[in-house]
Amino acid sequence: MKIYLAPMEGVVDHYMRDLLTTTGGYTYCVTEFVRVVDRLLPAKVFRRICPELNTGGKTAAGIPVILQLLGSEPQVMADNAARAVELGAPGIDINFGCPSKTVNRSQGGAVLLKEPQRLYDIVAAVRQAVPAAIPVSAKIRLGFDNTDLAEDNALAVQSASADFITVHARTRKDGYQAPARWEWLAKLKQCLDIPMVANGDINSVEDYQRCIDISGCKDVMLGRGAVARPDLARQIQHYQRDMTCEPIEWDEIRLMLQGMASELQENIKDRYILPRIKQWLVYLRKEYQEAHECFEMVRPMKSYSELSACFK
Ligand SMILES: Cc1cc2nc3c(=O)[nH]c(=O)nc-3n(C[C@H](O)[C@H](O)[C@H](O)COP(=O)(O)O)c2cc1C
Repeated sequence: MKIYLAPMEGVVDHYMRDLLTTTGGYTYCVTEFVRVVDRLLPAKVFRRICPELNTGGKTAAGIPVILQLLGSEPQVMADNAARAVELGAPGIDINFGCPSKTVNRSQGGAVLLKEPQRLYDIVAAVRQAVPAAIPVSAKIRLGFDNTDLAEDNALAVQSASADFITVHARTRKDGYQAPARWEWLAKLKQCLDIPMVANGDINSVEDYQRCIDISGCKDVMLGRGAVARPDLARQIQHYQRDMTCEPIEWDEIRLMLQGMASELQENIKDRYILPRIKQWLVYLRKEYQEAHECFEMVRPMKSYSELSACFK
């Protein structure tokens, strides 16, 4: 069983990847998307989104970080994939799920799910441009407005020789609303030979068990649940091996928040630190009562210097 940490733009950056993979349980991470339009991007763009390229393509805990590309021109996507691999990316994932209107207007992300042939062309071009030893995958939703092309899209990804496919069990129209449609994952899995990674609404060990029961998938990708519960992957791995694992306590989370704040302080402008901490607390408060209290303390704060008091 493999557990992937989901790409989440603006939320799961390399700081978060480091914290969560150090907590344990993950097999791979996927970066936020690198937007590819009409040219080969400079190395610094790849290194900004994926600083792990400077450390062998792995997080501090040694977990490989697959680089995600978003774009629609097969040759340009292929050239950028080849460059990412030259820079050290251990895998390439292609984003066919982004619901953003701006991205979709310029023919990127979920809008491509309306045209399976384009998925095929992009994945095939990337696969050919990248050495065989480097996995190429695609992350799709069930469709754009509806699920009519779900099978065609999944088969297009497979025919283009992707190594695996991740399916976020919602259409673009569904947005992020619960529940994810895990029963659709089972339908797609039946028509595929390549491994399929199940994604959407796996927020607990119980969700994981239900999702694999319904979908028939072995591998899962954790998104918002991973940010809300930093030890979710570790819990799932222990559960899978019939081992018990004490859930992480708030004190440890508090240290992680503190660690994140001081990392950010060293690396980004002060005014961006509080919004990041507040954002994480919004996720954490779904799981931890203490995060509510902490969020209420942090909410009125205006500067980073006020923050340290609430972690004491
Ligand atoms: C804030 C946010 C940012 C996201 N950014 C990306 C992204 O860059 N690339 C991508 O493929 N999916 C992205 N996603 C989708 C997630 O990877 C995942 O498919 C989705 O959240 C469903 O999984 P979950 O229910 O476990 O969160 C994003 C989701 C959220 C909420």
